[in-house]
Amino acid sequence: MLIMGAQMSTTVDPAHAAAFDSQADYTAAVEQVRAAARDYYSGSTLAMDDATYDALIARVAATEAARPEWTVAESPTEVVGAGGGVVGDVPHTTPMLSLDNVFDANGLRKWAARLDRILGRPAGGYTVEPKIDGLAISARYVDGALTQVITRGDGRAGEDVTGQARRAVGLPHQLGSPVTLEIRGEVFMTEADFALANELRTGHGEPPFAHPRSAAAGTLRAVDRAYSAPLSFFAYAVHGLDPAAHLSHSGAMAYVASLGVVTTAGSAAGMPLCATIDEVIAAIETLDANRLTLGFGVDGAVVKADLAADRDEAGSSSRAPRWGIAFKFPADTRTTTLLRIEVQVGRTGVITPVAVLEPVQISGVTVTSATLHNFDDLVRRNVRAGDTVFVRRAGDVIPEVTGAKLDERPETSEPFTPPAECPRCGGEIDRSQKRWRCTRGRACGAHESLAYYTARTSMDIEGLGDKIIDLLVRAGLVTDPADLYDLDVATLKPLDRMGDVSAGKLVANIQASAAQPFSRVLTGLGLRMTGRSMSRRLARHFQTMDALLAASVEDLQTVEGVGPERAVTIASELIELRPVIDKLIARGINMTEPVDPTAPPTADAETAPTAPLRKPDGSPMTVVVTGAVPGLTRDEGNEAVERLGGKSTSSVSKRTDLVVVGEGAGSKAAKAEDLGIPTMPAQRFADLLGAHNSGDTAQVAALLSETLPAPAVL
Ligand code: IVH
Repeated sequence: MLIMGAQMSTTVDPAHAAAFDSQADYTAAVEQVRAAARDYYSGSTLAMDDATYDALIARVAATEAARPEWTVAESPTEVVGAGGGVVGDVPHTTPMLSLDNVFDANGLRKWAARLDRILGRPAGGYTVEPKIDGLAISARYVDGALTQVITRGDGRAGEDVTGQARRAVGLPHQLGSPVTLEIRGEVFMTEADFALANELRTGHGEPPFAHPRSAAAGTLRAVDRAYSAPLSFFAYAVHGLDPAAHLSHSGAMAYVASLGVVTTAGSAAGMPLCATIDEVIAAIETLDANRLTLGFGVDGAVVKADLAADRDEAGSSSRAPRWGIAFKFPADTRTTTLLRIEVQVGRTGVITPVAVLEPVQISGVTVTSATLHNFDDLVRRNVRAGDTVFVRRAGDVIPEVTGAKLDERPETSEPFTPPAECPRCGGEIDRSQKRWRCTRGRACGAHESLAYYTARTSMDIEGLGDKIIDLLVRAGLVTDPADLYDLDVATLKPLDRMGDVSAGKLVANIQASAAQPFSRVLTGLGLRMTGRSMSRRLARHFQTMDALLAASVEDLQTVEGVGPERAVTIASELIELRPVIDKLIARGINMTEPVDPTAPPTADAETAPTAPLRKPDGSPMTVVVTGAVPGLTRDEGNEAVERLGGKSTSSVSKRTDLVVVGEGAGSKAAKAEDLGIPTMPAQRFADLLGAHNSGDTAQVAALLSETLPAPAVL
């Protein structure tokens, strides 16, 4: 949890933050931090996004390091809760401490080295847990019964939230044994429950929560609410066990789980046990890679010494234990300006509002657009162009706008007016469901998707141009590509100017396309975030539609160029297109990719030497084709690069390995020369392709040696 975590500013390296020049600026910043903390604790909205908060508190810490005489009493860098002012009156049995933060592997190694120094020996292993983005609570059990739940407050005393916390999934009312102990952990809201909570809340005319963490905080404190949003709980510590048992942390967590409590170790993220810091770093990398698929907010990893002896000897400062550390991931919520709201119509006619944003970096990705979900939601959230909005990249990876900062709204801003008719076809809109749809459904986008399917670069169906597609769609004969295969001469003939012969030819061409390779079918389906080369790569990797359909998001990411965002999009596109895919399969369309011995990216020893545009390590060379290659279209030129084992890209940079220069080449050729990148005349490239296709390896080698340094290939 950011505000609680960021109070540990001794580890927010002041060297990386600029100290304030004046005492007035410093005290103003302290007030801002405190106000943000207060807002956070009161739970309804976030006053500041995580990254801004982190940066501000780092500057406060840097100022205090440079000008200790300015340091205010109860500085937010020192007190638990950042001086947010919300403390309760129930004392904790032992203080609820926080954790120091590190932000990279180097910081982690320093922490581990310090721990080893304190122990006078290497620590005997570490656990790696997800850092749950919620609120810390302490749950008291007496003779196995849950009696009281307290928030952390200022670490010494907290608020009694027993009533609401009893509803948290994972925190049982009764343990499996009649034991008396205190379980500590995080109350949070899952991504799915957050969506539900906001539906409930906005349905009751209240502003939505900006973030699952504030939703959990608000819900935990809610008294007498007419509706209730679900909460969850993961335990990460237990107090009151017999010290003589010397249970390790992993042992204690296993025991807690055996009593029926859900622990971080039992979460989808698990709790790997690591012998070395290198193993810890690998485990954190895995957690980071998976964190967007877990279904709950994880803002970092918590690393703890596992052995009881190590923890006892290391002890704690007044603020944080020395045996544990939080490794914080980059923030997943940022603020930015909403430039405008666009309306998009999906393949099935679903109409959605999309936010076009001032580009903003969120957890390592530049986000320029985000979903606004649906029009009801947009109206309820009262988001407008010009607003400063919260943008979140979370569970489903597709960024979303979760709310606007109403107090920063420009006076001139106008509410958004939802479309009166389908912006694509002008048809009527069905508003009976939350997701608005064009009443023409798939037929609304039929022309576009059919044109894409039949195009030369996809299924290459001759005679099926724009005009005929238009006639077919208007006549209601086709709404998706699979319908094409049901057409016969008798159905086509009545269409405008369609004679027996042309109808016959068209039917034959359509039927012939059924044998096209799988990669072309995939291109023709037009999955978002995939073009022709990506479709080819996917087809080569998975070989069959069955295998592609069975692939998980993780499997998809093993394909070169497929990151988490693209993988999720591909997976959801396949689900959306499934009915059409099934129809195509039922009509006997080929869904297998022919095996190509030179196909990248398999860099095994057997195939690598036969692929001329491979580097010695087997990886593909990055090749730009500019100008015309004799006998090839631009697409075929790019395809040829891939057939030869290379990777084709469109712009020349320092990373380009080869530029093929044909007639009409322009600035790219000049740039290649400037950068000293090898170039190859297009005719030689065409010859190379011919030699390669006919298996003339000697000729291939000869042609290559004229362009590339000898050791680079073969
Ligand atoms: S251990 C002595 N483990 O992060 C403190 N804390 O930034 C022991 N948190 O106060 C805390 N997930 O509210 C621990 N797996 C985890 C955690 C976790 C989230 C929170 C907790 C803590 C804050 C510190």
